[in-house]
Amino acid sequence: MTCAKHRIAALFLLLFFFSPAGMVAAKDKDRIPTTLDGPFRPATRRFDPSLRRGSDDLPMNDPRLAKKVRSPFPEQIALAASYSPTSMWVSWVTGDAQIGKNVTPMDPSTVASEVWYGEESGKYSFVKRGTATVYSQLYPFEGLLNYTSAIIHHVRLEGLKLGKRYYYKCGDSSLKALSKEHTFETFPSSSPNMYPRRIAVVGDLGLTGNTTTTIDHLSQNNPSIFLMVGDLSYANQYLTTGGKGAPCFSCAFPDAPIRETYQPRWDGWGRFMEPLTSKIPMMVIEGNHEIEPQVGGMSFKSYLARFAVPSEECGSNSSFYYSFNAGGVHFIMLGAYVDYNQSGAQYAWLKADLHQVDRQVTPWLVAAWHPPWYNSYSSHYQEFECMRQEMEALLYQHGVDIVFSGHVHAYERMNRVFNYTLDRCGPVYITVGDGGNIEQIDIDHADDPGKCPSKSANIPEFGGVCHLNFSSGPAKGKFCWEQQPEWSAFRESSFGHGILEVINSTYALWTWHRNQDIYGENSSGDQIYIVRQPELCLMNIGDVTPRTCSYSSPQCSSSNQCASQGVQYIYLFSLLIIGSLCVILGELWKTMFFW
Ligand SMILES: *[C@@H]1O[C@H](CO)[C@@H](O)[C@H](O)[C@H]1NC(C)=O
Ligand SMILES: *[C@@H]1O[C@H](CO)[C@@H](O)[C@H](O)[C@H]1NC(C)=O
Ligand SMILES: *[C@@H]1O[C@H](CO)[C@@H](O)[C@H](O)[C@H]1NC(C)=O
Ligand SMILES: *[C@@H]1O[C@H](CO)[C@@H](O)[C@H](O)[C@H]1NC(C)=O
Ligand SMILES: *[C@@H]1O[C@H](CO)[C@@H](O)[C@H](O)[C@H]1NC(C)=O
Ligand SMILES: *[C@@H]1O[C@H](CO)[C@@H](O)[C@H](O)[C@H]1NC(C)=O
Ligand SMILES: *[C@@H]1O[C@H](CO)[C@@H](O)[C@H](O)[C@H]1NC(C)=O
Ligand SMILES: *[C@@H]1O[C@H](CO)[C@@H](O)[C@H](O)[C@H]1NC(C)=O
Ligand SMILES: [Fe+2]
Repeated sequence: MTCAKHRIAALFLLLFFFSPAGMVAAKDKDRIPTTLDGPFRPATRRFDPSLRRGSDDLPMNDPRLAKKVRSPFPEQIALAASYSPTSMWVSWVTGDAQIGKNVTPMDPSTVASEVWYGEESGKYSFVKRGTATVYSQLYPFEGLLNYTSAIIHHVRLEGLKLGKRYYYKCGDSSLKALSKEHTFETFPSSSPNMYPRRIAVVGDLGLTGNTTTTIDHLSQNNPSIFLMVGDLSYANQYLTTGGKGAPCFSCAFPDAPIRETYQPRWDGWGRFMEPLTSKIPMMVIEGNHEIEPQVGGMSFKSYLARFAVPSEECGSNSSFYYSFNAGGVHFIMLGAYVDYNQSGAQYAWLKADLHQVDRQVTPWLVAAWHPPWYNSYSSHYQEFECMRQEMEALLYQHGVDIVFSGHVHAYERMNRVFNYTLDRCGPVYITVGDGGNIEQIDIDHADDPGKCPSKSANIPEFGGVCHLNFSSGPAKGKFCWEQQPEWSAFRESSFGHGILEVINSTYALWTWHRNQDIYGENSSGDQIYIVRQPELCLMNIGDVTPRTCSYSSPQCSSSNQCASQGVQYIYLFSLLIIGSLCVILGELWKTMFFW
């Protein structure tokens, strides 16, 4: 090649490198995929065998579980959002729970429920009073102990300003028993331009060494709200006499006359969570571990007594399902362990709630409940198929954007799907039952050889059994797929938590953080922009017929790989250019001397 040719080639390459195309090519390496790139080719990251599948529960004498205040000072302080951001729930516990024989419930009227609050630290311009309650967990069986709770207080603050910091103390001023000062920030107003900063999501938390890692990481991620998608304390892994919790209750205690509980675990859990829940609202929904059956066929006593949820404010009048707004997001929390049939109260409420959502005000619609509808793990496979058949069409018709669930102790993100068919307008379903509880991680997939559960396995703890064989697609006529189903985009058996950051009315960044990843490394287990397409998907809102949203061009239907291969090619191409540039610049250098 002559020098002239070299110079021309170099000029072209230089031009390319500094052109927009060149810049984009270099940048594209780090591009985070979006749901618009989907549906993704199913991908699996298996359990890392260097990890243990779980760890023991923290013992009751762990400092994070021990009571740190004298009675009647407040402890286990927790916030919960109300329906509207001008209002906030504050809950706490005073006094001493009792466990043993002949326990006598405390009189809840002996300690007042007051919250002193204001916009300036140390200056509380307002006081709000609320209600107090106690509950008992009683077992009419020889040898089992009874429990009666300390006093549980709930106060709803009202008339708060939006997007403002407040300082508060709770307790009983007449007894001179107020907590130390805590602080929280209210949400911005509901509007398409205002969003809660960071929404943390996890389920099946429990109270183990792994739970500690999850909550430490989650707190470091500095969320502004925390969705706890069911299975909270795992107090039902114990006998009433306490002792050591078991990863499998029925295996460890085959002779137990009932699914026993050790209720002091709930108090330990409340203390463990307080550093987080006294600062940001925690929104709970019931899971199967909250059922806790006791005397007289009663259940859910602890869940119902301990947690304030905006059920009255949202018109559901039930702690088992409710909704609320946080900025431009409308959240719907559904109950899988209460009647979800189309003829029932929950369905009627859900229909009315969806009807009144104004997507001009809250563009995002996020739903959550405990057991997943879409799940390719062997554990809980098709367990809540009846619930899906009852409710899925209603949620789809109203354009729900994202659904979070737990129950399965692993991570899985689905491709947009409706009625087991890939659909651009279906919600993005995400399972985050990976909080780290004592039952350990789930590692088997229903499509692994020999791991398809029998139809008598995975019977739900509430509602009917509707296991189905697929009626179309590669698994037609079969109960399980032979490879990872097309609706499953990515799954990994690891503990962790998720953070949703809503950017504007159409983009939200979802990041799944694994417990084993070191913080500050910018690594994430899974990351994707969830992109809404209102112009495509909200045309006939409320219409009964599915919209024509199936993916028409299968060009990039294998996109996860497709996208990442593309990125690799661009990367290699950039390397090539840089390489040739170096050579050419070297040549240029020489020619300058010998010209
Ligand atoms: C759970 O925590 C223990 C240590 O407490 C660790 O050895 C184990 O690998 C963790 N398991 C997972 C799945 O993260
Ligand atoms: C616990 O309460 C039940 C129901 O009131 C009662 O039958 C049982 O004897 C009590 N057990 C103990 C140990 O006090
Ligand atoms: C909830 O309670 C309120 C006030 O008591 C009542 O007006 C409303 O109809 C109830 N809603 C349902 C769904 O029962
Ligand atoms: C829901 O409907 C199914 C089927 O119609 C029925 O078997 C079940 O008992 C119903 N559940 C409730 C709680 O009503
Ligand atoms: C879902 O798919 C099944 C099986 O193909 C079909 O019978 C049912 O009608 C579909 N449901 C809806 C709401 O489209
Ligand atoms: C459903 O699938 C299972 C195995 O996947 C098969 O044994 C069974 O016969 C199928 N049932 C029907 C009704 O096709
Ligand atoms: C939302 O943010 C994305 C990514 O930054 C941007 O591409 C899009 O245009 C924005 N949409 C709106 C409606 O602001
Ligand atoms: C993590 O990412 C941020 C923003 O992209 C960057 O400023 C920071 O240097 C990164 N940290 C590490 C350790 O790579
Ligand atoms: Fe569960």
